[in-house]
Parts: sequence; structure tokens; C-alpha cells
Amino acid sequence: MVSERATRTTPFAAMDVLERANRMDDVVHLEVGEPDFDTPAAVTDAAVAALRAGETGYTSSKGKPELREAIAAYYDRRYGVDVSPERIVVTSGSSPALLLAFAALVDPGDEVVLTDPYYACYPNFVRQTGGRISTVPLSADDGFRPRVDAFERTVSADTEALLLNSPANPTGAVLSGSTLDELVSVADRADATVVSDEVYHGLTYEGEDHTVLEYTDDAFVVDGFSKRFAMTGWRLGWMVAPEEYVGHVNRIAQNTLICAPNFVQSGGIAALESGDDFLDDVRDTYRERRDFLVSEVEDWGLSVGYTPGGAYYLLVDVGDLPGDAFDAADFFLEEAGVAMTPGPDFGTNAEECLRISYANSAERLAEASERVQRALESVEITAAD
Ligand SMILES: Cc1ncc(COP(=O)(O)O)c(C=O)c1O
Repeated sequence: MVSERATRTTPFAAMDVLERANRMDDVVHLEVGEPDFDTPAAVTDAAVAALRAGETGYTSSKGKPELREAIAAYYDRRYGVDVSPERIVVTSGSSPALLLAFAALVDPGDEVVLTDPYYACYPNFVRQTGGRISTVPLSADDGFRPRVDAFERTVSADTEALLLNSPANPTGAVLSGSTLDELVSVADRADATVVSDEVYHGLTYEGEDHTVLEYTDDAFVVDGFSKRFAMTGWRLGWMVAPEEYVGHVNRIAQNTLICAPNFVQSGGIAALESGDDFLDDVRDTYRERRDFLVSEVEDWGLSVGYTPGGAYYLLVDVGDLPGDAFDAADFFLEEAGVAMTPGPDFGTNAEECLRISYANSAERLAEASERVQRALESVEITAAD
């Protein structure tokens, strides 16, 4: 019989929209969270050289020592934080790292606190380990940044973990260092552990990124190469685990994942060692696209209500359009040929929203905006109606 865990796992709407959009002609894709840049050439060259050199066997389940050292050096360089390579476990993307973190932390019935809106896959990660979800509501009025007092009201002695994500999917909201610090204290007081998803670090448009490791060693950090180095299909990420968890995480990884692909790990070393210029360039480009899109969406007559500080998403309220968010996404796909993701996947506080990704070229974003404008005019529905 199919397990309850399997039946309770919900589909990922962005992928469903993508599949539908891929069956249509000439759609502008604003539904997926995938960089439109090529992976830096130095990374590809390093991986190809490794492949040709025969780096095709298993590696240590924690990852190649050189890669773990490069990740530790990255923490030192970017955040001034000393992380022992011993605490780093390399994974096939940050997704398996999330699964490992919850597998090591959560027993059936344990509470995991996350914000709402959340990255659509988070509840499903918690469900795989039998955890219970409680949410902290976020609002556009606060720029979708979590309020510490709201966390304080939700976190209790039953809480095992707080899942934080900055810059956030689907809102692009960025947590300040001081808020992160305060949330670490909230977790400490409840004897809970922070799991910090930092996969969009590097794509922060104002100010600096702050890792939770600046404030505590007792947190899990989940991170990866997908977003900042345009390496989604390479499947490479990592986790930094609190010392007491490393051996446990590694045993689960040994049994279930064995290791991340060998030659791909060599690409990862090149990305960390030579990717800073690439990252500076793409960040500037994303910032320009964000500014363009925020102003276009307002011209459509829709409300944005905040300026996302990072990642490449915008959560737009479509509550004034006829029907629900699925109808709005259908309308823009069918009538304008522009794919966007309906909000309900991202939580009850995104129910009346669409998530728009600006991981697409300036030309395609301009094309999408014109098409949406025309579609709205053709049926004379605007937010004002
Ligand atoms: C917030 C967040 N975390 C994790 C992931 C997973 O990324 P990957 O497994 O490619 O590292 C994504 C992907 O979209 C994401 O948006």
C-alpha cells in the first residue's frame, strides 16, 4: 500500500506550469527559478578536465577534502567565519542537504516552524520525516520580512527546528544580520535548532549577506551552487552541520546518497575559487531586471507593495483580478503566453498571489510585460475594475 507520507506529498506547481508551458509555442517563462546564464566556463573546464582525468569513482561521502576546504575558505572570505571542513557535508544540490538536516533533527510529531509564504517544497521535506509544521505569517506590509515577535509567539518547547530562508523564495525578502541574530536567540531559548537555507546568498541587491554561522555554531546551513553559479543541473550543494550532528548526518548520507558526483565536485572547487567576478556581474544584471519588473507590474495596475532585496522573485497580489490565483496564472499563460506560478503552493499568505521569476533576459521580460499589458487591455480587466 502506498505510504501516507507519499500520498501527503504535494506536487510542485512551478514544475507543473513549466510542463504545460513547454507544450505550448512561444511562451515567456517567468515560472521557474532557474538562472538563464551559462555556468562559468572555468567551472565547465574544470569538470571536463576531471572527467577526462578519470575522476569518476565514488568520493568520501562527506565530499572531496579539497572541495570541503574550498567551502571553508569561502566562509572565511565572504563572512569572516571560521568553519572546520569537518563540519561540511557535500550533497547533490541543497535539496538532499535539507532532507538530511530534517532526517537528523526531526522525530515523528516534532514541530518545525517556518514562515508563510515559504519555498513550496519545505512542508514536503518536513513531512518526509513525520514532522509537524507551524507557520509564522509574513505580510507584504513588512516587505515579507519575518518579525521576531511573531516567531516568539509561535516557537515553543515543542519546537525542534526553525527553518529560515534569506534571500527568500518566493518573496525575495532578505533578513538583516540583527534579525538573524535575534532569531538564533529565540531558537536557543526554546532549545530548538535553526536550519538556514542560504542557497540564494550572493544574489542580494542591497547590503551584505549574513550567514547564521556568524551568530551560532549550533545551526544547520544548507547551501549550494545552483543559483549563484548558474549550476542547477549540476546537482551540487552542501551542508554545514553542528559538530554533534556531523557523524549522524554522514551515516545517513553514506547509506542513502553515497556521495555527490566526483567530477562535478571538481567543478564546484573552480566555482568557489574563480566565481566572484561572475557573481558580481549576474547580481548587477538581476538588480536591473528587478527594478524593471517592479515598475512594469505597477503599470499593469497590480500591487507589488514591497521591493524584494534578493533572489529573483516577485510575489504579486492578483486578488483584484477575476477568479483565483490559478485562474490568473491560466489567463496569463493562455491569453498572453506568459507563464507564472500560482501562489497557493507557497502557503496561505500567498494564496492571492502569483510568483514571477525574473531569471530571464531583459528582452524577454520586456516582451512578457507588453504581452501581459495587451492581454489585460483586451479583456478590460485591470486591478481598478
Ligand atoms: C529556497 C530554495 N531552497 C532550495 C532549493 C533547491 O535548490 P538545489 O537543490 O538546486 O540546490 C531551491 C530551488 O529552487 C530553493 O528555491
